[in-house]
Amino acid sequence: MRILVTGVGGPAGTNVVGLLPAGSVKAACDSDPAKRQELRRIGREDVRFYTVPNARSTDAFKRAVNSIIKKEGIDCIIPTVDEELLAFSRRPGDFNARVMVSPYETVKTCIDKALLYEKVKGQPFCPRHVVTGNRQDLALFGTEPVFMKPRVGRGSRGTSMFTNYSCIPDERITADNIFCEYLPGQEYTADVLCGLDGRPLVTVPRKRLETRKGTSMKGETHRNPQILDNVKKLCGILKFIGPANMQFKPDSKGLMKLVEINPRFSGGLPITAEAGANTPVFLVRMLSGEKVAPPEWREGVFENRLVDR
Ligand SMILES: Nc1ncnc2c1ncn2[C@@H]1O[C@H](COP(=O)(O)OP(=O)(O)O)[C@@H](O)[C@H]1O
Ligand SMILES: [Mg+2]
Repeated sequence: MRILVTGVGGPAGTNVVGLLPAGSVKAACDSDPAKRQELRRIGREDVRFYTVPNARSTDAFKRAVNSIIKKEGIDCIIPTVDEELLAFSRRPGDFNARVMVSPYETVKTCIDKALLYEKVKGQPFCPRHVVTGNRQDLALFGTEPVFMKPRVGRGSRGTSMFTNYSCIPDERITADNIFCEYLPGQEYTADVLCGLDGRPLVTVPRKRLETRKGTSMKGETHRNPQILDNVKKLCGILKFIGPANMQFKPDSKGLMKLVEINPRFSGGLPITAEAGANTPVFLVRMLSGEKVAPPEWREGVFENRLVDR
């Protein structure tokens, strides 16, 4: 199988290239030509680097990707950038190779945290939340702390915790933000891999012990029963194909609440791989038609040795 990995300058893209055996990833791309350096850093100069336009310029992106597919004889694309997930899932038929991406509806829902929380409203793991431009709508938080984040965001940019809703500056109360109950507990990410039918085949919850720019650098894998159960439920509510990572944090009573879902491989994936679940390898073997059992993994503390420190 000849694979193209997109967004190789980001942690998820680096991880997929770094965790797959030499030879299977033929090409990698990024919109920033300087990111060629990442392949050198992880010792994978055998992978050919291409610069592609930003996926928001849909036609130019499509042309560039199809040209790589042709030149490199690509069978399968593993995208790792949010805008690209949208472009690939919206019109998968535009690309002349199989794309490992969830359905458009799923991608669109996960990218906007307001759509995601609306989708799971009523589930015990849905955090209390409000999208509003009016302070009085935030009164439901009473005297409790409030966590604010952009509906569409990444890497924790634009997030803030407020002691209570009256401390939030007027200019931050806009419908581009989502206001949530503050979740004080230990944050977890679950690396999830679903089959082509959407069934979760591998779920590895890990505590985020150390993070850097939103990427987990040290983690502790743990079969947290609430998280395993929540992931199963989420995979029944939204259809995921291939990789996803789902973040949770417990409320003051210890009940795990959903923070966000990225329908792609994670930045902290090397931690899960060190624990024994190299999900990119499992995915590629599955796609190649091999009858493979999901990887076994162990609980413990592991470091992210792939992502740049
Ligand atoms: N309701 C919340 N309570 C406390 N912390 C939160 C809450 N939601 C998010 N966070 C913190 O903010 C970080 C970024 O939020 P997240 O929803 O993952 O957005 P993104 O990663 O897209 O920036 C999380 O990793 C978590 O540490
Ligand atoms: Mg996050």
